[in-house]
Amino acid sequence: MRKKVTVVGSGNVGATAAHWIAAKELADVVLLDVVEGVPQGKGLDLAEAMPIEKRDVKITGTNDYADTANSDVVVITAGIARKPGMSRDDLLNTNYKIMSDVVAKVVAASPNTIIIVVSNPLDAMAQAAFRQAGLPRERVIGMAGVLDSARFRTFIAEELNVSVENVTAFVLGGHGDTMVPLPRYSTVAGIPITELIAPDRLEAMVQRTRDGGAEIVKFLKTGSAYYAPSAAAVEMVEAILKDKKKIVPCAAYLQGEYGINGLYVGVPCKLGAGGIEQIIQIKLTGDEQAALQRSADSVKELCTVIGAL
Ligand code: NAI
Ligand code: 2OP
Repeated sequence: MRKKVTVVGSGNVGATAAHWIAAKELADVVLLDVVEGVPQGKGLDLAEAMPIEKRDVKITGTNDYADTANSDVVVITAGIARKPGMSRDDLLNTNYKIMSDVVAKVVAASPNTIIIVVSNPLDAMAQAAFRQAGLPRERVIGMAGVLDSARFRTFIAEELNVSVENVTAFVLGGHGDTMVPLPRYSTVAGIPITELIAPDRLEAMVQRTRDGGAEIVKFLKTGSAYYAPSAAAVEMVEAILKDKKKIVPCAAYLQGEYGINGLYVGVPCKLGAGGIEQIIQIKLTGDEQAALQRSADSVKELCTVIGAL
């Protein structure tokens, strides 16, 4: 029997995630949204591409959680963007309400599922999802580090004119201005980039990574990035469905790891059929640990606003 993945929110990230899942023939896809017609239209359109792409997957668009029953993985991209006159806290509270409502319905339909949260602000939304879901921490995971490190990898590959396949990178911490790219743990064919790129160039690339989301918004003006974010979420889906035991940075609920307790923060995780099968603890310098703690503090502030600590 084929696996089943539900994508909640059929906007830019959600619909493109459905596209990647179908193109890789990973699973049947259910695309869900509150807006009537949009998931049905995008789902049918995508289904009609399958004979051309030679992929046997079923794609369903719906507004009804009954259609999502028994999903192996659920990717949540539902949310609204900030509107004029809306404060950051207003946005946070609105998306918190959406996340809580979505997660309650997702878990009722698929109690054994693994949830991947994509909606922003990412770490706080993952925390809200975890609180609402009542699932073990292994099965509620936030997507940000795969995207942020893919951005860093892109810039490294361009700088050194090497294949992106040669480049690995780690970005830890929350998904925001305080994220922590780790050049010491980023390599080209196993060589640390600190030996290949001058410190000032490297610092500029680290800053570009931190500003990666804003750089795309500046171009698009009316929305944010979605090709790389959806590809990142689908890399996590694939690692879980194929039980790959793949180590990638994910937002995970920490219980003492890295000296952080009771909070979602981006750290290296092993992803397999059980979701997060291990949180990998790497050695950090004093400065790196302090940067990670600062990032955790800013996540904590947001979680305090929504009462999700
Ligand atoms: P979008 O506006 O294109 O799509 C959002 C969709 O959610 C819309 O179709 C909307 O109708 C739907 N929605 C709203 N309330 C809903 C509910 N209660 N139930 C079901 N669907 C609902 O936005 P886009 O570009 O797809 O981004 C989605 C989210 O992902 C945003 O919060 C964005 O900030 C976040 N994001 C996070 C990234 C990360 O690294 N974690 C990267 C890129 C985006
Ligand atoms: C990004 O990093 C908006 O969080 C989104 O592109």
